Amino acid sequence: MRIAVVHGPNLRLLGRREPDVYGRETLTDVNSAIEEEARALGVEVEFFQSNHEGALLDFLEDASARADGFLVNPGALTHTSVALRDALLGVSRPFVEVHLSNTAGREPFRRHSYLSDVASGVVFGFGVQSYLLGLRGLVSRIPNPNE
Ligand code: DQA
Repeated sequence: MRIAVVHGPNLRLLGRREPDVYGRETLTDVNSAIEEEARALGVEVEFFQSNHEGALLDFLEDASARADGFLVNPGALTHTSVALRDALLGVSRPFVEVHLSNTAGREPFRRHSYLSDVASGVVFGFGVQSYLLGLRGLVSRIPNPNE
């Protein structure tokens, strides 16, 4: 099983970006933790980050040929992007939406997501653990051909 992990805008700044909100781990630290969890679950992972909406859409389309599901932190595009929603629906792969911060407890504009209602699940508020819990949930939703 192969999962593609997608990080949206500004997530490459992790570690120095509002550490009180997002923690002190860098994106490299986050990806290492995901890789370790993936190894424990016996799944392959690949990573992609972009600050550009179009690049994210292109990646989803390309990666859908090889990935069984997507673990997505869409960053601010969560709250703005119909295009990202359409792309995730269009590639017909299950996905889990994750956020480091508790988006429900922040500014009102962060309470709405264009993705949550079409996601397999959503995890937010647990820092790096959101990704690890989300990965577990996503893997549990994808049928294993060997079972
Ligand atoms: C975020 C939450 C979003 O509201 C914000 O725009 C981000 C990060 C999170 O991981 O908590 O860029 O997705």
